[in-house]
Amino acid sequence: MLADEVCDCHVLVIGSGGAGVRAAIEASKHGATVLISKTIVGKGGCTPMAEGGYNAVLQEGDACGIHFEDTLKGGAYLNNPELVNHLVRESPLRMGDLVKWGAVFDVTEADELAQRPFGGQRFPRTCYAGDRTGHEMMVTLVERLDSTDVTTLQEYTVIDLLKDKDGKAVIGAMALDEKGDLVLLKADSTILATGGGAKIYDISTNSASGTGDGFAMGYRAGAELIDMEMVQFHPTGAVYPYDARGRLVTEAVRGEGGILKNVKGERFMKNYDPARMELSTRDVVARAIATEILQGRGTPHGGVYLDVTHLPREQIETRLPVMLEQFLRFGVDIRTTPMEVAPTAHHVMGGLRITPHGQTTLPGLFACGEVAGGVHGANRLGGNALADTQVFGKRAGEAAGKAGKRKKTVDRDQVGAQLGRLAGFCAGNTNPALVKRDLQLAMWQGAGIFRTAGDLEETLATATQLAAVHLQAVSDRNLAECCIVQNMCCTASLVCRSALLRPESRGAHVRTDITQAHDAEHSPFGHTFISQSREGIEPREVQP
Ligand code: FUM
Repeated sequence: MLADEVCDCHVLVIGSGGAGVRAAIEASKHGATVLISKTIVGKGGCTPMAEGGYNAVLQEGDACGIHFEDTLKGGAYLNNPELVNHLVRESPLRMGDLVKWGAVFDVTEADELAQRPFGGQRFPRTCYAGDRTGHEMMVTLVERLDSTDVTTLQEYTVIDLLKDKDGKAVIGAMALDEKGDLVLLKADSTILATGGGAKIYDISTNSASGTGDGFAMGYRAGAELIDMEMVQFHPTGAVYPYDARGRLVTEAVRGEGGILKNVKGERFMKNYDPARMELSTRDVVARAIATEILQGRGTPHGGVYLDVTHLPREQIETRLPVMLEQFLRFGVDIRTTPMEVAPTAHHVMGGLRITPHGQTTLPGLFACGEVAGGVHGANRLGGNALADTQVFGKRAGEAAGKAGKRKKTVDRDQVGAQLGRLAGFCAGNTNPALVKRDLQLAMWQGAGIFRTAGDLEETLATATQLAAVHLQAVSDRNLAECCIVQNMCCTASLVCRSALLRPESRGAHVRTDITQAHDAEHSPFGHTFISQSREGIEPREVQP
């Protein structure tokens, strides 16, 4: 194993989903930019898998103020209002960029961007390309990226951030190339755009890359993270066949008029949110479905029914073609037969604490997209994630690009420690796939939709124990997997520790062992925070 320096650039972007590519496009206007990806650019991350849409205020009658209020209310008032303000004001502009660069979204007869209703929003403001919106965005972004000077390094796994000699600033990253050799990438500014980590759960919508690498690397480097207990369970994931469990059944199905029923045929959302029904916020709908299943009103496969059979066939075929095809492959024609769905881990709302320019608490380190916290509070509105990638991808790329040059003296001890860690994997004794499996099951059992302090402590103990296992890499090519599994263990423990810090139920975080209830708007609690040097929960000034 070597530790070659493969680049010395102005901006290093880690991650090639929607936020990373948008950041790289922007940063490249200001200096040499390198985009590094553990997958193939445009194929990895969650953006290409995002189905339902992108929220933007575009029509008369809608207003940024309404989108702002919907986002705060949906987020149980835990969002950073300054970040939300940028989100709602700039998402229409960033949608304009995508259209200008050639993205083809669905349009109305008047040739305006079509928008559909999504949960928790008082206006139909979710733009879409059928039910493959993220794919359309990604294809467009990658084409745009190809017209820039950005250098891409594909199938390189970043395993840690590189700090300068005095340990204060981030000056790049250490990565494994496809052969498993350690390489150093130096940069004046580094942007983490590594996406989320819902793969720490047994059932998840995420692609294989949703392993929480950015949370773990940021934490190890000394950055502060907030609200890591806030994990969104998407209400509707596929429940069978086994290998399709958890796969996203887009909220667009409910936006188009799909209805939820329990095994008795009751439209149960009337008991949980009679005003908004199926278009309530995700935390409410996921809890309602979980409750129906737990109380014995689930379907034979362990879900509830999501029914679109009353909709015109043409509407299903044109607006939900991916859903139609996906279920046909499972042997279910959704035009005639209800789907079976259940909650699935989807999105981490917490993440690295950032300013509106994506600056983290560490000099030289920026973050954008799902790895950053604060935009979505305790519950994200469907359609706000794709907008987030573009708004904060651009902001972080621009700020990192404009940041000054930095003296980058590599701390050789840090590199030596990393080489020692990798050598340890060659002498390890446990298959990382087994550790991953145990972690995912433990998280699903003990840190899911409903939580108690006892379960969280037990799950934290499991994650800590699994983090200490001697993982084995059978060849240099497996070193990356060992690093990733350690990142998953670290992310899981951040989720559990943060969940133990919040003594209330709020948004996606439901502590069934705490009976004292606060109306979210008047909760005395602010963000949980966690770093190598401190952890706790901020008080919040309660408005009378
Ligand atoms: O349901 C969906 O299509 C997912 C959208 C989102 O998470 O924003």
